[in-house]
Amino acid sequence: MTSPDIIRHDWEIVHGYPMVYAFSINWERVEQFQCKPQDVWVITYPKSGTTWMSEIMDLIKNDGSVEKQGKVPITERVPMLEAAAPGIIPAGTEILEKMPSPRFVKSHLPISLLPKNFWDNNCKVIYVARNAKDVAVSFYNFDRMNKFHPEPGTFAEYLEKFMSGNVAYGSWYEHVTSWWEKKKDHPILYLFYEDIKEDPKREIQKVMQFLGKKLDEETLDRIVQRTSFQTMKDNFMVNYKTIPTIMMDHDISPFMRKGIAGDWKNYFTVAQNEMFDADYEKKMHGTTLKFRTEI
Ligand code: A3P
Repeated sequence: MTSPDIIRHDWEIVHGYPMVYAFSINWERVEQFQCKPQDVWVITYPKSGTTWMSEIMDLIKNDGSVEKQGKVPITERVPMLEAAAPGIIPAGTEILEKMPSPRFVKSHLPISLLPKNFWDNNCKVIYVARNAKDVAVSFYNFDRMNKFHPEPGTFAEYLEKFMSGNVAYGSWYEHVTSWWEKKKDHPILYLFYEDIKEDPKREIQKVMQFLGKKLDEETLDRIVQRTSFQTMKDNFMVNYKTIPTIMMDHDISPFMRKGIAGDWKNYFTVAQNEMFDADYEKKMHGTTLKFRTEI
């Protein structure tokens, strides 16, 4: 398949979920991926702080050393399981297969799409969730710049699609609530983007503990500094500027866009906000999961 075929292609439905078309090709590689008990996964609904958490985890693993972090893109240090685009980016599964243990694996998959042996291996998960309104805004801008996704249309049009789950990986509402429930019977550290933003040191300490690492105060402070929004925005190893422009066009909207909580207020009209809130109440009714839309 030549690359233009995958550009701005509509979603492909994979086991009931809208999936990035390029990723859907040869999906067996995802289903048949061999997990290992030592693997630690970072799982999120897209645009919830995955790259941020990946960098935090990798720095913790390497005792805060920036030697490798400064030279190897995050896509190779914490590969994304389902990512693939023949001729443009290597398949995440291939990179992972060559990686020594313990591996960190990134994924946006909903529970039912994970490889079966993920559950058999009881792999640890760090799940990062972000409030729906900021995710919708971030995802909208991501769809604009990521040419593996269909054009999002206007923000008003996009919001309808987001609410109905007609976006990559399907419904935000289902994703965040089902992983929240899964916490009851699986080793999951469930974190919130807004909490990391509010007090990165406190949240990084939780990650450290979950990974079974002990780091001194100075190292911890260095990790906080290395993973600040501005530092990551300027760091080519995490800002996705090494991805070919045929896939991501940062001139349309940078991957490291704003990195704040509450940007939705610059996008939602009063009417859209009321409509969104009413729909949110219905969809999130009955869950104990609570989000902050500002800090
Ligand atoms: P915005 O588009 O709102 O700026 P993901 O990595 O899951 O795709 O998430 C991307 C979102 O996380 C983007 O949000 C990006 O700017 C934000 N982000 C990335 N690194 C960050 C950091 N160090 N601090 C705060 N936000 C960060």
